[in-house]
Amino acid sequence: MTVQSCGYDHQVVSSVIRPVPAAVTATAPAKVNLQLAVGPARADGYHALVTVFHAVSLLDEVTVRPASRTSITVAGEDAGLVPANESNLAWRAADALAAAIGLAEAGVRIDIRKRIPVAAGLAGGSADAAATLVACNDLWQVGLSQAELCEIGADLGSDVPFAVVGGIAVGRGRGDVLTPALAAGNYHWALAFGQAGLSTAEVYATCDRLRARATAAGNRAPAGEPTLSTPLMAALRAGDPAQVGPLLSNDLQPAALSMQPELRRALAEGRDYGALGAIVSGSGPTCAFLAKGAAHARDIAVALTSSGACRAATRASGPVPGASVVKAGA
Ligand code: C5P
Repeated sequence: MTVQSCGYDHQVVSSVIRPVPAAVTATAPAKVNLQLAVGPARADGYHALVTVFHAVSLLDEVTVRPASRTSITVAGEDAGLVPANESNLAWRAADALAAAIGLAEAGVRIDIRKRIPVAAGLAGGSADAAATLVACNDLWQVGLSQAELCEIGADLGSDVPFAVVGGIAVGRGRGDVLTPALAAGNYHWALAFGQAGLSTAEVYATCDRLRARATAAGNRAPAGEPTLSTPLMAALRAGDPAQVGPLLSNDLQPAALSMQPELRRALAEGRDYGALGAIVSGSGPTCAFLAKGAAHARDIAVALTSSGACRAATRASGPVPGASVVKAGA
């Protein structure tokens, strides 16, 4: 992406430069896909999607500080599974923003505090990238708009633009082309984390294989273009979790279940505990249970943890805003 395509104006920015803060901290949310409709694989290997993203109150936190060279630390949930080097999506986000604004030599120290589990279908890496974009935008006093940060984020990963925007939004293309959704209400979730992560790429590949096998056996038509669920959108406009629950859908769920069959038990137990809807989140293995309220979400989380149906569980609610600066200064 070029500086021009950002609409960035060097002269305007240079006239408003002020002393850089010593540190900027931003948070960004995990997501649950309320609908994930997956089309056939495209020529570039990605799949055409129609998805309804929902940002929930499980947040990663990223602090950035000026430095002569870029470095990164990762602490918190699953920290040992996250690369603390230039392959980290947060590091790549800082590099991409610096390149987009022509800051070739910009170093930054990035400290990530993770609460979103890794390889969980909750877009935790994308959240870290989004928080880094927003934090560096503030640290370097660049003043790029949310739309410009989304454009940079889309090159980093399909879910990064949504982690910047948050709320509830319809994603098309690879999931990176967003339209805000008309939605009301608050939604309370229990999130049950799997024993081991799942690779998004492998889940998509398994989905393709399962579909090809079913088509060859004459059990299903080849995947067509994905379409948005009109009943789900109506339920979201009504803001009624009881209507939304049964309309949750995820085309990647059969693939995730075939790779981790034990997830069936978690889904069944959550339904037994009265969840309004029970679904694998994105590419999994996190299972998301829509609850009747905050206390019910806690009860489901406690029940699933104590029964051993999952490694751990928490509750969260949404929609929440996308990546946001929470602290800037000394
Ligand atoms: O965009 P992102 O890097 O998050 O995607 C990870 C992987 O998920 C891709 O390499 C691809 O295998 C798969 N994917 C896909 N279609 C999408 C989004 C992701 O096949 N729309």
